[in-house]
Amino acid sequence: MRDKFNRDINYLRVSVTDRCNLHCTYCRPKEGISLKGHEDILRYEEIIRVICVAVKMGLIKVRLTGGEPLVRRGFVDFLASLKGINGLMDISLTTNGILLEEFAERIYQAGVRRINISLDSLNKDKYARITNGGDLNAVLRGIAKTEEAGFSPIKINTVAIKGFNDDEVLAFARLAADKPFQVRFIELMPLGQANLAHGKDYLPAAELMRSISAHFELEQIADKKNKSDGPAKIYKIKGGRGEIGFINPVSSHFCATCNRLRLTADGKLLLCLLNKEEIDLKKALRENCSDAELEKLIREAILLKPKQHDMTCTDMHLKKCHREMSAIGG
Ligand code: GTP
Ligand code: 5AD
Repeated sequence: MRDKFNRDINYLRVSVTDRCNLHCTYCRPKEGISLKGHEDILRYEEIIRVICVAVKMGLIKVRLTGGEPLVRRGFVDFLASLKGINGLMDISLTTNGILLEEFAERIYQAGVRRINISLDSLNKDKYARITNGGDLNAVLRGIAKTEEAGFSPIKINTVAIKGFNDDEVLAFARLAADKPFQVRFIELMPLGQANLAHGKDYLPAAELMRSISAHFELEQIADKKNKSDGPAKIYKIKGGRGEIGFINPVSSHFCATCNRLRLTADGKLLLCLLNKEEIDLKKALRENCSDAELEKLIREAILLKPKQHDMTCTDMHLKKCHREMSAIGG
């Protein structure tokens, strides 16, 4: 699947629900979002149909996201059914980890090996503050379960927030030194109403890198080990077990190598996090379109993929996204 700029589009992020058992301040606005009804959400069979058609077109990697994917009923069985899709080489999951203690083993049995877990603080009170009441210990127990179950890689996503977790950067680096995890710092993206409250909290990755390098010896690992690898720049910690990663969508965007599309829980195909264009696959599916028609829609959508986004840290207050991050899935 080549777009207009000759990028190979082989990665689909699928949000299976807009519901979440947490309420992170940078992801979902304080007043909440209007949640979609049952009928407005793609059924699992419909998601599978989209994936099967896209795999025939060249898709090799699917990442399941939310909201929080584990809150949707039947999710693990759905995961297991993806394993049977011929040509789909990589199935991964992004979760907040709250329910992993219960589900890690079953997710592993379903055939998933790659898991990314969001964790923005290692301090119980701060974690509860950023997530609006989340229980840090539940996540830590969940992470331990993923390790026990045998997941690899286990990636920890930490959104860098000035004045909130900049004092924990070394603690997170230590976690990556002690454990076989890839801890990734993500630059805060100024998306949606949720981030109006975070207008001054952007922290460039270069600053984090400086603080960490003063205490740990880092060695960059070559970019893109696999064709489907995500946007993080990865460093090995000398003498440590894990790795540190930086995802810099604001200070140094990676649009030139962007290989992805997003499918929202309500069945819209998004071409870029910051693009307002939405292609309505749900409507086509519910009008009983043929596979050929679905393929045509996806192909036309890919040709609309913009060259790059225009996100900068200076438009923090202004960038009004048409969708909140919680309704995109990161
Ligand atoms: P892997 O490399 O396979 O682990 O996946 P990933 O890093 O793409 O997945 P994850 O769900 O952990 O996403 C981590 C962060 O990267 C999230 O904050 C995403 O919003 C951000 N991100 C992922 N893809 C893009 C993208 O295409 N553009 C921008 N701006 N941010 C992205
Ligand atoms: N900026 C950066 N990362 C974000 N995420 C959610 N909202 C934002 C934002 N505004 C991250 C979550 C999750 C990943 C999928 O996206 O922390 O780990």
